[in-house]
Amino acid sequence: MAVIRVLMLGDIVGDAGLEAFETRCGPLKEKWAADLVIINGENAAGGFGMTGETLDRILAAGADAVTSGNHVWEKREFWPALDSGKMVLRPANYGSLEGFLPGDPLPGRPWLELNAGGVPVFVLNLQGREMMTPIDCPFRCFDRLYRDIERITAGHPLVLVDFHAESTEEKEAFAYYCDGRASLVAGTHTHVQTADERILPKGTAYITDLGMSGAQNGIIGMDAEICLARLRSQVAYRMTCAVPQTDGDLALHGIAAEFDAETGNALSITRI
Ligand SMILES: [Fe+2]
Repeated sequence: MAVIRVLMLGDIVGDAGLEAFETRCGPLKEKWAADLVIINGENAAGGFGMTGETLDRILAAGADAVTSGNHVWEKREFWPALDSGKMVLRPANYGSLEGFLPGDPLPGRPWLELNAGGVPVFVLNLQGREMMTPIDCPFRCFDRLYRDIERITAGHPLVLVDFHAESTEEKEAFAYYCDGRASLVAGTHTHVQTADERILPKGTAYITDLGMSGAQNGIIGMDAEICLARLRSQVAYRMTCAVPQTDGDLALHGIAAEFDAETGNALSITRI
């Protein structure tokens, strides 16, 4: 049986997150004999969105695909990168279900196609709506994209989903909805890794949140004092990223997973 090994890593938060990924991606890839590395980069540019330069750094450090979330729209000058052919995605359910057609005002591609030793692997990025912007339905958007992918593949496609969402209930519900179709549903956005990784009944590997790549001596990778001031006063002070004091403050969180290349089913999922 041919096995595909994938590393999927949580949101990069600022310079500390970039440093953690740049220094640890290579050794991690070797340790897990990973065919592909996918990481969420939506907080890479100082905690808010991406720039062309941060995207290039993430790709140069070894990412095969970079996913994102609500912060992807933060820097208007970054938008053209979503159409540039570089391996970066924004959540597909912004805009409309008819999006990704010529003339659609939002840039971006519906999925990224990667290659793992001759096996096509499709990366999807969708976003939840609970406690977030009420964008288009991620469930129906997944149905549509999956149908389109099925049409261009022979057999069961290997589909990896970054589901960027706040609500644990919505994340679990989404994973059960995709069970047996997606090979992996990995949650992002909260920056706090959950310990519920498992393989669902029909073969989809799942974790509610991958965690983050960033400084652990803060609050979700951001400066603790500013976060405290925001929460205690309810004033939206501009957040800045936490600055690591020691090497131990640098975190790189995610999962390593193995898949049967023929059936697309998950064989294992392990937290990093
Ligand atoms: Fe987010």
